[in-house]
Amino acid sequence: MKRIGLVFLLALSFCFSASAKEWVLNSPDNKNEVKVIFTGGKLFYEIKREGETLITKSSLGLTFKQFDLSQFKQVKQVSTNSVNEKWEMIWGEQKEVVNNYHEAQWNALTKNKDKLVLEFRIFNDGVSFRYKVLNDEGKHLDLLDEKTDFNLPENPVTWWIHADYDSYELLYQKTQLSEVDSAHTPMTMELNSGVHVSIHEAALIDYASMTLKNNGQGVDCDLVPWADGIKVKKDGDLISPWRTVIIGDNAGDLVESTMVLNLNKPNVLKETDWIQPMRYMGIWWDMHLNTRGWKKDEKHGATTEYAKEYIDFASKNGFEGLLVEGWNIGWEKWDNWNFTEAYDDFDIEEVQRYAQENGMTLIGHHETGGKVAYQYEPQMEEAFKLYHRLGIKAVKTGYVGKIDNGEYHHGQWMVNHYQRVVDLGAKYKVAIIAHEPIKATGLRRTYPHFLAREGVRGQEYNAWAYPSNPPEHTVILPFTRGLAGPIDFTPGAFRMTFDGTYREEGYPSRVSTTLAKQLALYVTMYSPVQMACDLPKHYEEFPEMFQFITHVPVNWEESKVLNASIGEYYTVARKDMDTPNWYIGSITNENSRELTIQLDFLEEGKMYQMTHFEDGENADWEFEPYNYRISNKMVKKGDTVQLSLAPGGGTAIRLEQINR
Ligand code: NOJ
Ligand code: CA
Repeated sequence: MKRIGLVFLLALSFCFSASAKEWVLNSPDNKNEVKVIFTGGKLFYEIKREGETLITKSSLGLTFKQFDLSQFKQVKQVSTNSVNEKWEMIWGEQKEVVNNYHEAQWNALTKNKDKLVLEFRIFNDGVSFRYKVLNDEGKHLDLLDEKTDFNLPENPVTWWIHADYDSYELLYQKTQLSEVDSAHTPMTMELNSGVHVSIHEAALIDYASMTLKNNGQGVDCDLVPWADGIKVKKDGDLISPWRTVIIGDNAGDLVESTMVLNLNKPNVLKETDWIQPMRYMGIWWDMHLNTRGWKKDEKHGATTEYAKEYIDFASKNGFEGLLVEGWNIGWEKWDNWNFTEAYDDFDIEEVQRYAQENGMTLIGHHETGGKVAYQYEPQMEEAFKLYHRLGIKAVKTGYVGKIDNGEYHHGQWMVNHYQRVVDLGAKYKVAIIAHEPIKATGLRRTYPHFLAREGVRGQEYNAWAYPSNPPEHTVILPFTRGLAGPIDFTPGAFRMTFDGTYREEGYPSRVSTTLAKQLALYVTMYSPVQMACDLPKHYEEFPEMFQFITHVPVNWEESKVLNASIGEYYTVARKDMDTPNWYIGSITNENSRELTIQLDFLEEGKMYQMTHFEDGENADWEFEPYNYRISNKMVKKGDTVQLSLAPGGGTAIRLEQINR
């Protein structure tokens, strides 16, 4: 690791006038600029990129019940620093990450000498800042309001979901910023100049989630409250998450940004070899199609016998995990959960033994139904111990419904609960895939066993919701929810309609993609755990197409966005971590599209066998979703490839290096 340092490269200037003080800080490439302003007793900031204002003068500060840290007598810059280092991800979209930024710290003192520490870090891919309140005496603090604003110089196009304090399972809207009432982060905007900006946060620990509220000129930070209205409660030092403004010249730059990860602390786990990115199947889609059930009756999905059938199919096709939902007591009423006792038709020890014999592991399941404080918390440790004893390597957690103690999913109490689960996972070597989670904020760097989460309107909505996810949904997600971190979206649906077979005639839910687009999602929708969600018999109908899923890696050495327009199309190429092979996923919304890509990322002087899984002629998500073709060709660096995407379609490409 290289840390260049303390000696100053910062293009830092300072000017003083009787009424105002200003400090300017630039990114290492000098393109992004932040101005911190102290005027009229208040602190503000502004952000520019190459002279264009992206965030106009916006407030900073915190208001506590005990004192107000938004009105100051004196503000001083106390330190500056510059960092340029590299680190390696244990798994991810890329192996090596560059962490390069300029930073500065200010102390702001009130007339009573109460102190707010403000820190800014300016990267080439964005700007971030956070607050610290050092509280040596361990005094109790109640945060009533965080004053952070993000004001915009114009009324940009914005992709957003409403800030429900309990859920992220919503369809994204595309409107002007002025029409946003409240929004979750990441909230993404495209300015008139084409510059893309996404507001999010990094390292959300022991704090409330930041949502955004329209203030007429932009958005205010609106923290998710406790049931009693307090936003954050603390007895020691208070360190806020980083407020992040990811900046790119185009949509693809947002996806390639690593700022959120860089703002998180390095891995704290001593051993990581037990953490296994993997492809998995599940006794799961059956329940969403209603052909099997979670509770123990004649339709029960989680039986020893059915699990073994699944393991036979999954292991034969190279999958490493099997999720089994509905294995434990409690599903009849979603109450009185028992997280260690299996239904008597599911022999968990035998199933896990059989899985291991076949080179697989069970993925455990803890659905809490929101009974977190009074049912899950008291049993959690025993539940993780059980999985540890059986060698179960990962657990999917679930939080459907309101939380039993009246707290919100995204408030500080639950943020801390999710963290307790992550800590237990570390202690018992069980990786976490959280559903109904708190949003990702880059904590996977610190806790690499936190593999993925939902927090999205995932594939399951296509089985039973109306409207189901429209074709544009998956072309918006990489630039919004996806900027937060890996998504357990569960791609791989091979049957698109259910009416007349699984459902009554005319049932409106469906998968609104072509078959080829389902394959492309394994590359476009990044996650180190990728499910093949559908039933074995549906895969058996299209064995050649299934072949892409059974070979696609889940851990990448490098990723490159080849083209992107939010809600329209997205093409990304990723290099396998373990081989010289590359994979490409390209997807479109409801419009058909011709895209040309250039294979200039391939290794010079090598030949590659290209297998192209694409939409067939006349394929269409609505009328001909199963129409596909597969072709093979030899290609090399610099060659161009024409992608023909059907309405609601996609394309998946495998490029295998030939050793000669
Ligand atoms: C909602 C989750 O998203 C889904 O995957 C799961 O099957 C159900 N809850 C039941 O736990
Ligand atoms: Ca869910």
